[in-house]
Amino acid sequence: MRSIFLEFLLAFVATAQSAAVPSSHVLHEKRDPASSKQWVRREKLASTEILPMRIGLKQRNLHRGHDFLMDNSHPDSANYGKHWTSSQIIDMFAPEQKSVDAVQEWLDGFGIGPRRVSRSQNKGWLAFDATTEAEESLLHTEYHHYEHRSLGHTTLACESYHLPKHIQEHVDYITPGIKLFASTKNRRNLKRGFAAGELSTCDEFITPACIRSLYNVPEIPEYAKTGPRVDNSMGVFEEGDFYSPKDLEKDLFFANFTPRIPRGTRPIPALIDGSDLHTDVLWAGGESNLDFQLAYPLIFPQNITLFQTDDRYYAATAGPRSGFFNTFLDGIDESYCKYSAFGETGDDSKLDPKYPDPMVWGFQGKTMCGVFKPTKVISISYGGQESDLPAYYQQRQCNEFMKLGLQGHSVFFASGDTGVAGAPRPLLGKDRCLGPNSTIFSPAWPNTCPYVTNVGATKVFPNRSVRDPESAVVDPPGHPWRVAYSSGGGFSNIYARPDYQKHAVSKYLRDHKPPYPCYESISNSSFDKHGGLFNRLGRAYPDVAANGDNIVVYINGEFQISGGTSASTPIFAFLINRINELHLNAGKSTVGFINPALYSHPEMLNDITNGTNPGCGTAGFSAAPGWDPVTGLGTPNFPKMVKLFMNLP
Ligand SMILES: *[C@@H]1O[C@H](CO)[C@@H](O)[C@H](O)[C@H]1NC(C)=O
Ligand SMILES: *[C@@H]1O[C@H](CO)[C@@H](O)[C@H](O)[C@H]1NC(C)=O
Ligand SMILES: *[C@@H]1O[C@H](CO)[C@@H](O)[C@H](O)[C@H]1NC(C)=O
Ligand SMILES: *[C@@H]1O[C@H](CO)[C@@H](O)[C@H](O)[C@H]1NC(C)=O
Ligand SMILES: *[C@@H]1O[C@H](CO)[C@@H](O)[C@H](O)[C@H]1NC(C)=O
Repeated sequence: MRSIFLEFLLAFVATAQSAAVPSSHVLHEKRDPASSKQWVRREKLASTEILPMRIGLKQRNLHRGHDFLMDNSHPDSANYGKHWTSSQIIDMFAPEQKSVDAVQEWLDGFGIGPRRVSRSQNKGWLAFDATTEAEESLLHTEYHHYEHRSLGHTTLACESYHLPKHIQEHVDYITPGIKLFASTKNRRNLKRGFAAGELSTCDEFITPACIRSLYNVPEIPEYAKTGPRVDNSMGVFEEGDFYSPKDLEKDLFFANFTPRIPRGTRPIPALIDGSDLHTDVLWAGGESNLDFQLAYPLIFPQNITLFQTDDRYYAATAGPRSGFFNTFLDGIDESYCKYSAFGETGDDSKLDPKYPDPMVWGFQGKTMCGVFKPTKVISISYGGQESDLPAYYQQRQCNEFMKLGLQGHSVFFASGDTGVAGAPRPLLGKDRCLGPNSTIFSPAWPNTCPYVTNVGATKVFPNRSVRDPESAVVDPPGHPWRVAYSSGGGFSNIYARPDYQKHAVSKYLRDHKPPYPCYESISNSSFDKHGGLFNRLGRAYPDVAANGDNIVVYINGEFQISGGTSASTPIFAFLINRINELHLNAGKSTVGFINPALYSHPEMLNDITNGTNPGCGTAGFSAAPGWDPVTGLGTPNFPKMVKLFMNLP
């Protein structure tokens, strides 16, 4: 496999050098070959094939977004909690008219006049159709089909493309472009007998009672004593995996663990782009059932909103699914769909799901834009690797998370289940690591975005009780899961370390120096050139942790146990939703982006100091006193979190 890859690289270098690019043009984007090892380049696109082209224009003021967010999310700031409205966001970040004009003038020169080019209402992107031949001459590039080695996905892309020098400053990126995509999600299940247990069996079976006891959470939410007074539904994202209503019903999960929750309790569906609910238990998915069965016991009687993306066709096929976050972000934010105000469009012409979808079971409507209101807390247990996508794609998506934070939303991501390595490819079951020798740690996407909160996983080891400190999950292959499982963590190759975590992370690197060489690389694809296994300067994750092993669930009407940072994430997110409820009932704003508050007040978390996160042929990093790249700052101490956040405006 490795030698094929080298031949492929050499072939590419030869092609790139033979294509004459005029000196008036500059290279705008080029894919890092290390990030596309899984993909085999196939035949060239036919010159007459029509490509839908999108030009994303540079937004204004994005470089100020970080400071704006810190200004309203850092607990020491006078503006803490003063969240922005969506129109303030649009006004601040929309691109300048002169960018639209400059790009249109360039297109005019190719006979692509303004009438052929559609503009979004707020002028954030320009779209038109053209033949492959025309686009190749416009961008001095070549488009090829690509096939994913193990998954068989196909997509089309170029290796690099060029822009006239005077245009480059106005353009963020262009699609179809250099993007290739593959993803896997965290999920595992194991059938096993179950004897309903009390706290004494929490080292074998984690029930709602175990979780409440671990984190000191009262069973009945504070607000429920008088009935919830505010609309504070908690958001859960799912894609291609469906919850089974029957499994939630009285005779199953609720009856055994939380009889106070009435039969028929269901999430409020926010079905994006025709995604539908499968009520048949045969469709029940481990991920969705886990999320809802963890969720209701913690937040009932508050509602849960299910953001489900993808129609049945996209959910059932193994096609590329990069759109699963962009489709979601479109669905909750009209501006994002139209591009100009919010980072990136969700509608990459080749990789994201396309609507209307003519396939059987396809959604016949148009892409939904801003149809659903985003909840103030959103829990997402899906993701991929930084190396799956070019930095631009991720940074633009990350800007949307920044803007959600500015408006007082908290977004949580599962840190991954494969330690310092990338999730294994389906069927092969092997770690995905980076660099020529597959030894470099692989950071997760979109986890490394500095504006989301990452949740790692902890475990109650055998013969330990809920009163003992937890440890990081370290499950070797076969014990109990088929594949090894440990808490995802590490350092970004794309994002620099944000100020809010600098102190905590430097302290770890100084006092608990990992026994591996490291490198220094920011927004820079040469991370595999100089040796070293991780980027000493990168945004580090996870931020926090919560229990994620031996979790009891009902799936297909049977008890199973399940595990993963997929479980840890909703647990942490639901506790923040409860804190928001207290805030709202006290006339305060929501807590919004919580990382600056967490790192300023680590005393509200239970520090986890035991365990590692193996991967890439190493033992990974070690948990240690203070922040660590295995369990972050630690697990929730709910009463302390309530006290701290209630003392903030
Ligand atoms: C929960 O959702 C239901 C159905 O949409 C609604 O009637 C109810 O008011 C909601 N509860 C709260 C607290 O918002
Ligand atoms: C990869 O392994 C080869 C053979 O062991 C070694 O010579 C080379 O330096 C390694 N490259 C990197 C970047 O570690
Ligand atoms: C747990 O304790 C029991 C009883 O003392 C013992 O038999 C068992 O081996 C212990 N298990 C582990 C994993 O230490
Ligand atoms: C890129 O990374 C290399 C190490 O891989 C480092 O020496 C160099 O300074 C980095 N450049 C930038 C612009 O960050
Ligand atoms: C510490 O973690 C290891 C796995 O890394 C586990 O075997 C051990 O039981 C843990 N110790 C305690 C005290 O929980």
